[in-house]
Amino acid sequence: MKNNYNRIAPFYDTLVRFAFGDCQKKAQTYYLSQIDEDAKILVVGGGSGHFIPELFRLKPAIEIDYLEPAPKMIALAKKQLSSNASNQINFIEQKLEDVALTDQDYDCILTFFFFDIFKPKKSAQLHAKLLPSLKENGKWLMADFNPPQRLHHKLWIKLMFLFLYFSVKADQKSIYHYKTLFSKHSFSLEESKEFCKKLFFSSVYRKRT
Ligand SMILES: C[S@@+](CC[C@H](N)C(=O)[O-])C[C@H]1O[C@@H](n2cnc3c(N)ncnc32)[C@H](O)[C@@H]1O
Repeated sequence: MKNNYNRIAPFYDTLVRFAFGDCQKKAQTYYLSQIDEDAKILVVGGGSGHFIPELFRLKPAIEIDYLEPAPKMIALAKKQLSSNASNQINFIEQKLEDVALTDQDYDCILTFFFFDIFKPKKSAQLHAKLLPSLKENGKWLMADFNPPQRLHHKLWIKLMFLFLYFSVKADQKSIYHYKTLFSKHSFSLEESKEFCKKLFFSSVYRKRT
């Protein structure tokens, strides 16, 4: 099975911290405050969910559908929850391709380091699948890599994909411009910030009619 993150779930966060310090976490959490107070949110490929405590701290009234196919990642995400918050989060152990989504269901979609695991064509298909489930004026928070410019970033990214190829049977081997996913649709870019010498970005898009 491709992209099987179950295999590396127990040490995924440690590896990310070793490779990129707290850059990834900064990109994930930077715009969480932009989510509406009582939003219904879809988290796609949420992984171990280490940003969940911060999300509930900032927005205690939110409701989350948490889509993640790796059971070990889901088990880690559940450990992050207080007993109150566990009533507000619905874990869906499936791939995005296999799940049935309802139109206009979510106020906000979160895709953090999700599209980088797919080839551009597949990312575009998955993005198109998510699109109708976001309400008009809904927000889409995205955090991911920019194509690396510096030599040492290029080397780290090559190493990362090599490791992912052998460990999780990664589908993809390079970073591309994920922002283009939003350019064909009616989205406006509300805010965007780059981190760690521009290797990472975090953006808030709003869906327009
Ligand atoms: C690179 S990790 C990112 C995890 C987390 N979002 C983060 O930022 O730390 C990608 C995650 O997407 C999940 N995933 C893989 N294929 C998927 C699919 N087809 N649909 C939904 N999630 C998927 C993996 O299990 C993994 O947890």
